Amino acid sequence: MMSKSRGRVFSLLPFAFSLVTIAGCRQDMHNQPKYRGLRASTFFADGSSARPFVEGTIARGALQDDEAFFTGKINKVDVKELPFPIDEKVLDRGEERFNIYCSPCHGRTGEGNGMVVQRGYKTPPTFHQDRLRQADVGHFFDVMTNGFGGMPDYKVQIAPRDRWAIVAYIRALQLSQHATTADVPGGDPAKAPRPAAGGEHGR
Ligand code: HEC
Repeated sequence: MMSKSRGRVFSLLPFAFSLVTIAGCRQDMHNQPKYRGLRASTFFADGSSARPFVEGTIARGALQDDEAFFTGKINKVDVKELPFPIDEKVLDRGEERFNIYCSPCHGRTGEGNGMVVQRGYKTPPTFHQDRLRQADVGHFFDVMTNGFGGMPDYKVQIAPRDRWAIVAYIRALQLSQHATTADVPGGDPAKAPRPAAGGEHGR
């Protein structure tokens, strides 16, 4: 006669067996046809498993339909006006971005003597020469977007709105180097409001 515990093991066997077989049958999406990145395909005529976008596809929210805002040009001509109102916040943002991205070559004042240039990089023109003082704002936007001669482009690093903020700040820099006492509130530089102490040059 079988012992009681052996009998229990035997009675559980069919259950254990069914567990194994059921798990084996459960396929769901474990094995589905798939391609790993860059793997070749015999299915598509071009032999590539990756499918190109349908021509003209635009990601949601990425329609760049404002030519002036996104290129600085209208019909290939540089725009003359900044495409949105400039306030102190925009200028502050422009100053910050300029000091990060442009001052290493152009210097903090835009004179063209940044640290990278002092170490041997091509010297950029000063922003305070007449040609660049008279250049339209669209030109500065275009230089940042597409590069210019020996200067690399910054369209990947700097979003369009920030590029415009930098243009606005460059205009402020240009004004700062050509200001007269008449530009100072009250006409007297000694009485002009001073920037708060404790800035980077204040210590
Ligand atoms: C790596 C150094 C470097 C950086 C960073 C740099 N520039 Fe330049 N930039 C140059 C050089 C060099 C030139 C001159 C290019 C030439 O004439 O071949 C130049 C030229 C220019 C010009 C003059 C174009 C003209 O009409 O003569 C403008 C405007 C300008 N840069 C704006 C900017 C702005 C704005 C930034 C920041 C977003 C910036 N640059 C960042 C090196 C730099």
